[in-house]
Amino acid sequence: MRRITLILLSATALFASCAPKAPQGPLPVIPAPNHAELDGRLAVSDARIETAIDGTLPAEGYTIEAGRKLIKVTGGSEAGVFYGLQTVNQMKDNGGVRTGFISDSPRYAWRGFMLDEARHFSGKERVKMLLDHMAALKMNRFHWHLTDAQGWRIEIKAYPKLTEIGAIGTHSDPNAPRAYYTQDDIREIVAYAAERHITVIPEIDMPGHATAANRSYPEFNGGGSPTQPDFTFNPGKESTYAYLTAILREVAELFPGEYLHLGGDEVNYGSEAWLSNYHVRRLMKREKLSTLEDVEGYFLHRMADSVAVLGKKLICWDDAFNVGIGGQDQIIGWWRHDRPDKLVRAAKAGVPLILCPRKPMYFDFVQHDSHGVGRKWDGFCPIEDVYAFPDYLYSSWGLGEDDLGSVLGIQANLWSELTHNTDRVDFMIFPRIYALAEAAWTKPEAKDYESFSQRLEAVYSQLDAEGIYYYDYRDPAHHPEPAGPFNN
Ligand code: ACM
Repeated sequence: MRRITLILLSATALFASCAPKAPQGPLPVIPAPNHAELDGRLAVSDARIETAIDGTLPAEGYTIEAGRKLIKVTGGSEAGVFYGLQTVNQMKDNGGVRTGFISDSPRYAWRGFMLDEARHFSGKERVKMLLDHMAALKMNRFHWHLTDAQGWRIEIKAYPKLTEIGAIGTHSDPNAPRAYYTQDDIREIVAYAAERHITVIPEIDMPGHATAANRSYPEFNGGGSPTQPDFTFNPGKESTYAYLTAILREVAELFPGEYLHLGGDEVNYGSEAWLSNYHVRRLMKREKLSTLEDVEGYFLHRMADSVAVLGKKLICWDDAFNVGIGGQDQIIGWWRHDRPDKLVRAAKAGVPLILCPRKPMYFDFVQHDSHGVGRKWDGFCPIEDVYAFPDYLYSSWGLGEDDLGSVLGIQANLWSELTHNTDRVDFMIFPRIYALAEAAWTKPEAKDYESFSQRLEAVYSQLDAEGIYYYDYRDPAHHPEPAGPFNN
């Protein structure tokens, strides 16, 4: 018996010493797993993969027990299994699956990306490409900015002119042919995202940024300013609330996720006009509203009621926090990096928060100082800042650990005024989205920018193979900055 054991032991030792050694360097996975104990060997290339669910793990968490011939992926839910498989796939594509044990779960529940399709329309195939990348990066919230001044991009059956008229035009060409998603397109994309464990959040911006809708149905126009004509819905007309609620009812049915985003940003760009509008003045008198902000608050609370009746959670930009939006089922997206006071007040009040300040989370800001197309405001959004977000900023905002309990997560936003073609969209998103994903998933203790930069090397070849026009930090001449829409 003893002899057999000894023979077995030495056979195992021999076998182990023959097993190929794993390559040196960091585990080739983005976002980096939070905990990995690897033993320096590789699984065989046709190792069997088994999956299981263990409800005691965090819902989006997973473990990987990787032996040479069997790789066992256990998730806290289907999503956890999916994320474990992304980790395995990335290792397979980059040198082989390393044997050992990985235990992983996300830092943030909200790992988001926003695409604006109102200023320039990207289209279904490009959105699917983006969702594929998000899924591989374990990101789980796609915020879809579908309506704005330049275009209305979602079919609404009850109000067909929204797309017959409102879908004409882009930021660079007000006469560009109609471009929008039919309800079937929307269902297809929502299902595609769901298969990848991504929730899609539609944004129907109101009461500002409503110009395209007002071109379609002028009877609900609340006016604007000389620079932003026809910018607002009319909060003084009762019919406006019925109109917008009917729109939201269709939207709510198309998007089974728990959220509806109503924008609520920059209303003051056009709300001056309310003061000279008969219906708004009557409303102000009736409801004893004395300022434009009071009217804005009245409007948003009415629409928040509609969202609640539709069984959804409301999300608004932080401007709406000024007028009393924000609470248990009312989430605030903090974007005004120059207004940390708004963030601090909301955080201290326990309002659920998505952190997406312009710097460094607006991907319409350039990635490099040498770039000329895209925003720069006293700085820009280099990949290092995206990677390090948000920890280095908390103390400058005046927030401590105790104030962060209501932070749901982080999100980057791509506004599309200057991304009129696929090269420009790619150039602004890639490779920054990799840094975003790691900032959203990996806890500070497991983050390491040097390791991230090394892991990005494999990403560049993969993006090349996919034909993506990314900004190459190693060799900027590889993909020169594409011209913007106004200097082609
Ligand atoms: C925004 O950038 N207006 C949210």
